[in-house]
Amino acid sequence: MLSCQSVAVSYAAGRIVSMPLVKVDLDVAAGETVALMGPSGSGKSTMLRVLSGLQKPDRGSVRINDTPIRTSRGTTDPRVALVHQDHRLVDFLSVRDNLRLALEVRGVAFQPDRIEEALASVGLADKMKRMPQALSGGEKQRVALARALVVGASVVLADEPTGALDRANSESVAALLRGLATRDDVCVVVATHDHNVAQMMDRTIVLQDGCAIAAETLV
Ligand SMILES: Nc1ncnc2c1ncn2[C@@H]1O[C@H](COP(=O)(O)OP(=O)(O)OP(=O)(O)O)[C@@H](O)[C@H]1O
Ligand SMILES: [Mg+2]
Repeated sequence: MLSCQSVAVSYAAGRIVSMPLVKVDLDVAAGETVALMGPSGSGKSTMLRVLSGLQKPDRGSVRINDTPIRTSRGTTDPRVALVHQDHRLVDFLSVRDNLRLALEVRGVAFQPDRIEEALASVGLADKMKRMPQALSGGEKQRVALARALVVGASVVLADEPTGALDRANSESVAALLRGLATRDDVCVVVATHDHNVAQMMDRTIVLQDGCAIAAETLV
């Protein structure tokens, strides 16, 4: 279970202070998928960074299974995988080596079977030796998902993972996230502007005025 309580984040740019997150409370159960929506600038990316441990909130706490998240600037909490919109694959490493690097960074021994399995689950077992520039946008996004899968994270956060994809690819990425949640009991939170993707998740939360509101309660 991912649990976030009374999270507040403000930014100061010179004398101007903005506060995208005022008091965010959110619980995501193991195996549950949540879409995080809200207009541009409402704080979705900020929220995901806080949930991942990449950014320390001004106030509030984030816990996974009742243990506080580890915050540090450069890396996420080891229990969390964050998938960025621009996938952030390492250009000079093959698909397989991108996954291998993710394991190394977390101090997990190189396991070829595990890498093959993760790539097979996103339908890319045959592209293991490809370089990222020889993949389509949808394929790169699926590699980024496989990289999140391979490390065995219990929380997967995805920031507009379908932003650059067509409808068919968006649906396949959303379906993969769902599959991950149900198969491995992972908590999944997806920031998205795409209602179609949001509908494929268990529920939708909207960031409004710095708070997380259940979509069905909005008029
Ligand atoms: N490092 C920063 N310094 C100052 N302000 C920031 C910083 N990062 C984000 N902000 C501000 O915080 C607010 C929320 O930004 P955030 O990127 O979280 O929004 P978002 O909901 O992800 O938007 P989008 O849908 O466009 O991706 C915005 O007003 C943004 O300008
Ligand atoms: Mg964003």
